[in-house]
Amino acid sequence: MRLSGVLKSVAPVPGTIPRPHFIPQFVRKTDYVKPLRQQDYTIDCTRYQNDLQSNIELKGRVTDLFRRVGLVHLINTGTLDPVTLREPFKHILGLGSIYSGGANPRQHISDNVYETGAKKDQTLHYHHEMQYAHQSVRSISFMCLEMSQSLDGATYFADNIGFTRDMESRAIGQKMIETGVRITRRWTDEKYYKDKPLQNYYNHWQTSFLTEDPRVAEKKAREQNNLVDIEWDECGKLTGHYYPPAYEYCPFIDRNLFFYAISDHAIWFDTDSNVIGTPDKDRPLIMSFADGTDFSDDEIGECVEVCDNHGLKVNWEPGDAVLACNYRFLHGRPGMQLKEGEVRKLGVVLGERFERIGPLPGKY
Ligand SMILES: [Fe+2]
Repeated sequence: MRLSGVLKSVAPVPGTIPRPHFIPQFVRKTDYVKPLRQQDYTIDCTRYQNDLQSNIELKGRVTDLFRRVGLVHLINTGTLDPVTLREPFKHILGLGSIYSGGANPRQHISDNVYETGAKKDQTLHYHHEMQYAHQSVRSISFMCLEMSQSLDGATYFADNIGFTRDMESRAIGQKMIETGVRITRRWTDEKYYKDKPLQNYYNHWQTSFLTEDPRVAEKKAREQNNLVDIEWDECGKLTGHYYPPAYEYCPFIDRNLFFYAISDHAIWFDTDSNVIGTPDKDRPLIMSFADGTDFSDDEIGECVEVCDNHGLKVNWEPGDAVLACNYRFLHGRPGMQLKEGEVRKLGVVLGERFERIGPLPGKY
């Protein structure tokens, strides 16, 4: 087995075949990856603090870095105001998407700025934002609103150009391209869970689709998420399948890139306290090959490892903001145990939405 990122300590779920618990390392030193240096994507905003929202030079530097690198980290901004922190990226983000059709519920902070929504102790595997959905976003911004000094609350970004090249040269990457993958999504019914513990809960369809009407939810699932074979069970649970293209054309670099990461596999929930005891086949998000075959343990481990090979760590100070191209970068972070009094509060702004078109000919 080549699973260097694996821990086998999790007890098997009753009635299921135990499989390893995949723990990403997020960053790995390899001899074939030349990592970005901090200065390659960082802008010190000390001299822009007085007019961060409107400074033309800053706007130009953000545009230039986004075009060339796809990742921009603003430091020393002098503010903790989420709307002000969003402004230097606004021309690239667009107006910011209303969050719907997503997987995890997010709380609104301010004017298109949301809480990141994930549990702190959950490991978030590298992923493209909304890669499971037919409508994704071109870019994403994070801002650090609070961060305890004692806490390592970093976010990690993986270079998807390198990841794509790497996967194309491997049997697992070719298999994903040739066979395709199937993503199964499942939403619970808020009414059913009213007086019950949130076991196997990830998101209710009411929250995700911003409606109380199941017909509207189903319509959005079909039309916005391109889900097929939609089913409702007796508990009001909505299930559907999506067959995404392996590649997505990235307009920023005029090139097709992989838009697959293994994060949509049931492994996403291995550290989610609501879902951890649920067999893979019943989890809220499942990824298999398009013909229904499961990924082997080796294949999952290799996908995790290859992504880690292209990762870099971005440390946060309160007032920092990051803009990432959602085609050229994946993001993730380890689970963390916050001690008494420790805080980590990040805001997120979703950029302009786009509908998946898959690869364009001649753009590989
Ligand atoms: Fe995310």
